[in-house]
Amino acid sequence: MLGDKKNVLLVVSGSIAAYKAADIARNLIKAGLSVTVCLTANGAKFITPITFETLTASKCLVDTFDRSFKFDVEHISAAKAADLCVIAPASANIIGKIASGIADDMATTTIMACTCPKIIAPAMNTAMYDNPIVQDNIIKLRKYGYRFIAPSEGLLACGDVGRGKLAPVEAICTYILQMLREEEHSGSDAASTENAAPEQVVTPVGEEVSASQKKQDLAGRHVLVTAGPTQEAIDPVRYITNHSSGKMGYAIAEAARNRGAEVVLVSGQVAISPPEGVKLVSVVSAQDMAEAVFEHFDATDILIMAAAVADYRPAEVADQKIKKKDGDMVIRLARTTDILGTIAGKKKDGQFICGFSMETENLLENSRKKLEKKKLDMIAANSIAEPGAGFAHDTNKITIITKDAELSLPLISKLETADRILDAIVAEISE
Ligand code: CTP
Repeated sequence: MLGDKKNVLLVVSGSIAAYKAADIARNLIKAGLSVTVCLTANGAKFITPITFETLTASKCLVDTFDRSFKFDVEHISAAKAADLCVIAPASANIIGKIASGIADDMATTTIMACTCPKIIAPAMNTAMYDNPIVQDNIIKLRKYGYRFIAPSEGLLACGDVGRGKLAPVEAICTYILQMLREEEHSGSDAASTENAAPEQVVTPVGEEVSASQKKQDLAGRHVLVTAGPTQEAIDPVRYITNHSSGKMGYAIAEAARNRGAEVVLVSGQVAISPPEGVKLVSVVSAQDMAEAVFEHFDATDILIMAAAVADYRPAEVADQKIKKKDGDMVIRLARTTDILGTIAGKKKDGQFICGFSMETENLLENSRKKLEKKKLDMIAANSIAEPGAGFAHDTNKITIITKDAELSLPLISKLETADRILDAIVAEISE
């Protein structure tokens, strides 16, 4: 159980999913929390303040000039009283306003004044969610520490089928309770709370959860995945690369997205399409990939490096096409940045790093060495000597290795392999 009664500030913006916020408020109250709801003017067109006032037994904040709340400067008082601020559903408009520092109504002024952790659960049409402006706003806010609960896929109110549905109410409530517990643990003596029992979350009546959305154990987590090969230019027409197809990394991105994570996929040049709803960062060289990973790592909870990054690049890149001459030719190679080797030094508490290891011999021994040398939490050892495993196949056969354990998986699809890796990561994180 949580210690003192915690206050959740639930901001409801203008989206058809606003009606689901009533279930969020109700579940949180039933879980023993105190909930204050702040409704934007557009939110109030979809659901009335009376609904929330009845469910929470407290005043629903609607606009800045309403003086009847118990505090004098409402937005500051509500912000100060909050242990956690949740914006659900969050429209493209409110995300854009927060990202741009616009505070022109009760909701946005209150959010800006909040110093507590903030969670955003977007809900909008797929094309709006995929719009690069919205995606850039999300990335910007993540860098400022906002947590996102990715929307799910399904039939949207506009009739389109795609990503943009508010994440299941149960997943949102579970994440809120989990975050409050984490905050409480970090702010108090861990020994006194470590045996705390998980809160009961009430499953809302009438909430439909499709099969792929059932397991939402990565809701609110930010997962950074790398995939595919890198290309190291020799001259404008030639480069050094490898056989990586990107399929394993793309499967991990897809599986993480299915489990509710907010996913950034840093990908080398591949011939496959990225899963919908993940943020794709397309790169070419090992240096590009290193820069993209370093840029996103701060806002990442789980990094999974499935990319086949070149260890060497041509020391000099010719400006013009190199013309052939008689006799042999030598290309001097220089080392690239070891991304995983470097990132260990930037790792903060709570971040989890999983590498991949591709070997043709001594798979487990060499992989264990990489786990230690690169200071990883986990490594997926991948033998390309196994039939059906490794480059370009739709199946894989890996062994998941951590400091204390080793788990050999059978030959299964890359998507199943991805889920097994995520199962292992979730188990490690919850420990
Ligand atoms: N990796 C990386 N940066 C590099 C090379 C590799 O971050 N410059 C990552 C890969 O994405 C993978 C892990 O390190 O997750 C292991 O890659 P692998 O190619 O198996 O091993 P290397 O460290 O490159 O060592 P070696 O080539 O000697 O086996």
